[in-house]
Formats: sequence, structure tokens, C-alpha cells
Amino acid sequence: MTDAPARQRTLVLVKPDGVARGLVGEVLRRIEAKGYTLVALELRTADADLLAEHYAEHAGKPFLGPLIEFMSSGPVAAVVVEGHRAIEGFRSLAGATDPTTAAPGTIRGDLARDWGRKVIENIVHGSDSPESAAREIALWFPSL
Ligand code: TYD
Ligand code: MG
Repeated sequence: MTDAPARQRTLVLVKPDGVARGLVGEVLRRIEAKGYTLVALELRTADADLLAEHYAEHAGKPFLGPLIEFMSSGPVAAVVVEGHRAIEGFRSLAGATDPTTAAPGTIRGDLARDWGRKVIENIVHGSDSPESAAREIALWFPSL
């Protein structure tokens, strides 16, 4: 199979809820089945500093504290995914932020739900633009 010349990379995180529920393989399976390539993969527990940088766009929002607490509560699987239009493509695989209304067929729609906690637990993160992807990949995988 050939890929378009303009390969694009995106940062995917399987969040602590996804790792704890044993869904890393399921998320990677969907990414690979879609035809994207995994170019880096690491399981690690992120600290608050890394997460504050990762979620810098949400500085000042009321959910940022609980979000950082949740995201540092256990290991995440950090993955760099590559392929033409991979940023948009993974966001489409992931589905809407709110898992209650995320479309069935998406990762969040199929695998996540609202547990009534103070932060939305929705299994995965995916970069939302080329600029975010470049920033996030440099943050999580400085050697790439
Ligand atoms: P956001 O970047 O808006 O969503 P997405 O992950 O779909 O790009 O928000 C980052 C995460 O913060 C989101 O995945 C879940 C959490 N969150 C909340 O807990 N409450 C909220 O009101 C929002 C908007 C997000
Ligand atoms: Mg986002």
C-alpha cells in the first residue's frame, strides 16, 4: 500500500481509564485497522507539569485541575500515529468529547460512559490541529 507524500503525525493518548480497563489493545486495533501506522509507543505515568503543558490551551478552565489529577492517576499509553490526514482521522475514530452522546461506532461512543465524576473520562486524547500535534509530540517524545 502506498501513502500520500504528505504524511501527518498525531499524538494519541490512551488515558488512565482506558489503560485501567484493558482497552489499549482495542484502541490500537482500531487505529491499525483504519490503516494508520504506529511510529512510537510508550506506557508511562505523566506528572502534573507535563500535563499542564499538554493541556495549556485549557489554562484557567474549571475542569483543568480535576483533569490533571485524573490524567496523572495512573499510566497512559502515549502513541504517535502517522498517515495522510491522521489528525482529523483519529479525531473521527475517537468521537465527540462527551461519551454519552459520542456516536456509536467511535471509541468514545462504544467504550466510554459518564460515571458522574467531576471530569469527563473518555478513554482517548487526540491532537486537534497540526500545530497541537507538533507541540504535543515534542512534549511526549522529545527524541522524535
Ligand atoms: P477538550 O480538548 O475540549 O476535548 P477533546 O479531548 O475532545 O479534545 O477537553 C480535554 C479533556 O478535558 C476532555 O477530553 C475531557 C475533559 N473535559 C472535562 O472534563 N470537562 C469539560 O467540560 C471539557 C470541555 C473537557
Ligand atoms: Mg482537545
